[in-house]
Amino acid sequence: MIKKLLLVISFAMAAAVSHADEGMWLPSLIGSRIKDMRSKGFRLTAEDIYSVNRASMKDAVVLFGGGCTGEFVSAEGLLLTNHHCGYGAIQQLSSVANDYLTDGFWAPSREGELPVPGLSVSILVRMEDVTARVAAGEKPADIVAEAEKEGHKADVQQMYYGNQQFLFVYDVFSDVRLVGAPPSSIGKFGGDTDNWVWPRHTGDFSVFRVYAGKDNRPAGYSKENRPYRPRRHFTISTRGVEEGDFTMIYGFPGSTQEYVTSDAVEYVAEVSDPMKIALRTQRLDIIAAAQARDAAVRIQYASKHASIANAWKKWQGEVLGLRRLGTAAKKRAYEREFAAWASSRPEYAHLLDSIHAAYEAVRPEYYVAELYSESVGAIEVFGRARGLAGTRSRMKDDAEFAGTANSSQAAFLKNYNADIDRAIAKRMIAEFMERMPEGGVPAEFAAAVSSHGGVDGYVDWLFGNTALTHEKFTAAEFDADPVVRMVAMFAPLDKRLAAVRARNLSDIASVRRWYTPYMQALMEWDTDRAFFPDANLTLRVAYGSVAGYDYADAVYHRHVSTLEGVIEKDNPEIYDYDVPQLLRDIHAAKDYGRWGCDIGGRRTVPVCFIATNHTSGGNSGSPVLNGRGELVGINFDRTWLSTMSDMEFDPDVCRNIAVDIRYVLFVMDRIGGASYLLEEMDIR
Ligand code: ARG
Ligand code: GLU
Repeated sequence: MIKKLLLVISFAMAAAVSHADEGMWLPSLIGSRIKDMRSKGFRLTAEDIYSVNRASMKDAVVLFGGGCTGEFVSAEGLLLTNHHCGYGAIQQLSSVANDYLTDGFWAPSREGELPVPGLSVSILVRMEDVTARVAAGEKPADIVAEAEKEGHKADVQQMYYGNQQFLFVYDVFSDVRLVGAPPSSIGKFGGDTDNWVWPRHTGDFSVFRVYAGKDNRPAGYSKENRPYRPRRHFTISTRGVEEGDFTMIYGFPGSTQEYVTSDAVEYVAEVSDPMKIALRTQRLDIIAAAQARDAAVRIQYASKHASIANAWKKWQGEVLGLRRLGTAAKKRAYEREFAAWASSRPEYAHLLDSIHAAYEAVRPEYYVAELYSESVGAIEVFGRARGLAGTRSRMKDDAEFAGTANSSQAAFLKNYNADIDRAIAKRMIAEFMERMPEGGVPAEFAAAVSSHGGVDGYVDWLFGNTALTHEKFTAAEFDADPVVRMVAMFAPLDKRLAAVRARNLSDIASVRRWYTPYMQALMEWDTDRAFFPDANLTLRVAYGSVAGYDYADAVYHRHVSTLEGVIEKDNPEIYDYDVPQLLRDIHAAKDYGRWGCDIGGRRTVPVCFIATNHTSGGNSGSPVLNGRGELVGINFDRTWLSTMSDMEFDPDVCRNIAVDIRYVLFVMDRIGGASYLLEEMDIR
């Protein structure tokens, strides 16, 4: 059985290219794609991409924090990622007096590089197919424990809904320091307005350095630590890219659902996304209004606002894209064909019905889970109380608990504003109660709300009496706290929803179990489809080429944007479009030095470019490499018409967006005055 399955998988991976450029491939199995990659312009070998024995490109790629990618560009641990990936760190180190978000930051020397508590990067040591070992009865936990013996961090991840199991072994470095960041007027240029949109003019990069112990191994922060010496770092090419050039993205895409059935697509496009969009619109309005009134609040809520808005906007594009493509209808037709084939195969014939029935059984409950987490779960002080309630249940000693709780209180309050949270709580509780199916609101909670004359009265009472927004509180105060009592009222619901807690609807165990044989059946049936495992925050390779696309009737979008577009958008009145004066001056004088080039008949500086690589959230910060494996850009986004590619990739319009590495170097050199950093890079 396993033999047969492995054969099916390896055949499926090597199959002819049926969907041009679609796919996120496992680096250790990239050999099956190399022929196709080389036919598109890749000049290197599978061993250059991934090797256990010798240094390979994989040694230059890191998982940055919990959900971005970064890449080494020097022998001394210098790391590039996106500005929006470093955003939390830059904000954490900022104050109104030292506002690195607004002004940017460039460490004057190694000693001036700023440690970022809580930030870590993970480097993949190796990956290994352990499907056969698991099938033979070995427990994943034992495989992990064995792999972690030498100070590594490991986990076993499933591919193709459990048809394949992979062990991933990482080194996790926790001494990571901020080296530089452009001002937001470059790094976040265009803000949330331009987010998910092409043409784009964002210099979305920031610079960090990884430090290690004397032995070059991971070590907690220490003054004695030294810059980490990676096994491999990327050479940078300043030759630039032309339409049609090969590009490859090496990084950590977080989550896709390419194989789910029409039911799941309909749930996302018609139920889940619309609900989440409606709730976030209200949260964002409240936060934005408070930010506009107060500069300190603008900094406090900058990172929160950006991340709430990011998914909010993406979901809107995703709904439009899934409807435009008719993804659910196409899937239904595909399912009919599959059903005809499967009807004569008893082991597969029931699968679509089983999947459908499983969805019917869990969908209402999953909706409640999503609604609850986007509404009540979005109240910050509620989240704080829930977290601490967990600690309290394990920590009975009053003094010990108060000490622990109060030690993290300053960090909570640093980016917290009770007026914003109170306004959000009023809206979110009202939405929760309105949208919740009949009888779903916890009875005790409903009673508490009405005993205060309704939601607003209840919330005002909560915020008027809670101690959790104070700098300090005692264990007794905590135990009696109204927000903690509210958390307790939701405990039964929390417990009930544990059964449907999953990354998405199709990942709930009772649904997922049918996807395991369904994937297997699809691979057997649809033999010329190129199957790749859905993204799951493990290291992947995507490849394609630089390309424009037809945006709308009579509107073609060119593959490259330039400094001319930055200046066209310049508007000192709007925070997101207020170009730094120095950049205006450089543009006016056309004083580009070595960074100038001719694009579209003008002397200018390239800013961003787009390509056909299949990427997803998590690929932010990923190196964009040319056919020689040289760094030509940093990936940071997808275009508006691509936002549905987590469910259906449309090769005609799906484009990833990268910041051109020449713009990165230009900004470091000419705006940041950090030309000394260029000296430690290999620039060709
Ligand atoms: N859309 C990109 C991604 O999904 C960039 C997000 C950060 N930028 C922003 N304006 N919020 O992460
Ligand atoms: N900006 C996304 C991220 O933070 C990557 C873009 C995407 O989702 O394609 O990972």
